[in-house]
Amino acid sequence: MKPLKPVEPEFIEDLDAALRPLIAHKKCILLCDEHTLEHCLPLLNTTFQHTLVIKPGEAEKTLAVAEHIWKHLIAWNTNRHDLLICLGGGVISDLGAFSASVYQRGMPFVLIPTTLLAMTDAAVGGKTGVNLLHKKNYIGTFAHPEAIFIHPPFLNTLDRHALIEGWAEILKHGLIADAALYRLISETALLNHIPDVSLLQRSIAVKTRIVAEDPLEENRRKLLNFGHTLGHALESWYLDRGKSVAHGTAVAAGMWMESLIANRMGFLGRNHFEAIAALIDRNFEPLMFSAEGIYSIAELCRYDKKNMQHDAINIVMLREPGHADIDGAASLEVIIDALNNYLECHRM
Ligand SMILES: NC(=O)c1ccc[n+]([C@@H]2O[C@H](COP(=O)([O-])OP(=O)(O)OC[C@H]3O[C@@H](n4cnc5c(N)ncnc54)[C@H](O)[C@@H]3O)[C@@H](O)[C@H]2O)c1
Repeated sequence: MKPLKPVEPEFIEDLDAALRPLIAHKKCILLCDEHTLEHCLPLLNTTFQHTLVIKPGEAEKTLAVAEHIWKHLIAWNTNRHDLLICLGGGVISDLGAFSASVYQRGMPFVLIPTTLLAMTDAAVGGKTGVNLLHKKNYIGTFAHPEAIFIHPPFLNTLDRHALIEGWAEILKHGLIADAALYRLISETALLNHIPDVSLLQRSIAVKTRIVAEDPLEENRRKLLNFGHTLGHALESWYLDRGKSVAHGTAVAAGMWMESLIANRMGFLGRNHFEAIAALIDRNFEPLMFSAEGIYSIAELCRYDKKNMQHDAINIVMLREPGHADIDGAASLEVIIDALNNYLECHRM
C-alpha cells in the first residue's frame, strides 16, 4: 500500500499494456461485480490468477462482504506483495480499496473505475469505506492505489440513469470550485450522455487539485462534501427502510437542499439557488420521503462524520457557483426547513 500521496488518475487507451508492468511477477486478484464481469472484463485481455465476483449494489458495501474478500485472499494464499485489481463502480472501488488497505496491514491495489461516478469521484482521492448500521462509509481508511486507470469506453455500457448519477458529482465539482465547468454544465440541455473527455478531465482535475491540497480532509477537502450531508442522510434513511437509492440521486437532492440553506442563511443569491434547483430538477428524479421522515432524516445529519459540535450540523456553504466555504454550521431547524421545502416543491 502506498503512503498518503494522492495518485493522479491516468487516461488509458490500452489497459492491458498499462497493467503489464504492474502485474509482472505478482499474484493478481481481480475483484469485480456481476455487471462489470459481463460488461467490462471482456474489454481486457489480461489474465488474472484469481477472479472474485460479488453481487452488484450498495447493499454489498459491508464488513461482511469485506470479510468474504479477505477469506478468499487467505484461501488463495495472497500476501501483501500481491495485487488486488478493482474493476467496477464506486462500490467496488470503496470496498476493494478498503479490503486491500487493511489486509495484512495493507496490500497494493489498482483501481479501474467503470462508472462515470467512479471515474470522476469515487476512485479518486484515497478514501475507502464500507457502510455500517446503514451509516454511509462509517468504517474506512485513507489509502492510495498503485494506479487509477480511466478507460472511457467502459462508459458505453452504462444506461442513461447511471450516466446521470455521475453527472451529479461533475456538477458538484463545478459548483464548489470551477465556475466555468458549472457554466458548461448549465448550458447542456440534459445530463444523460457520456461527457467529452475534456469535460471529464476538468471534473477529475477539481477533485485531484483539492485532494492534493488536503489529502486527509482537515481543511479544504471538506468542500467535496457539498450536497453530501443531506445526501448521505437520505441514503441512510432509505437503507434503514431496506431500500437503496443511487448515490448521485441522493447527492443531487442534497445539493438542492444545501443550496437552499446557503440562500436562506444569506450566503447564496436567490437567482443562483433558483438556477441550480432548476438544473437539478430538470435532470434528477426527485427523492421522496414522508413528512414524518423529515425529522429522522434531519437527525441522521447529526451522525455526519464531519460534525465537530453536536448542536450544529456541518455543511458546505455555497456562495456562488464556483465558490464555497467549508465548515458552515446549520441548526436542526434550518435542515428541517430545507427538507420541508424540498418535499413541498417536489410533491406530485
Ligand atoms: N470514496 C469516495 O471518495 C467516493 C466518492 C463518491 C462516491 N463514492 C461511493 O461510490 C458508490 C457509488 O458508485 P457507483 O454509482 O459507481 O455505484 P456502483 O458501483 O453500484 O455501480 C452502479 C451500477 O453500475 C454497474 N456497472 C458498473 N460499471 C458498469 C459498466 N461499465 N457497464 C454497465 N454496468 C456497470 C454496477 O454493477 C452497478 O450495478 C457509493 O457507495 C458511494 O458512497 C465514494
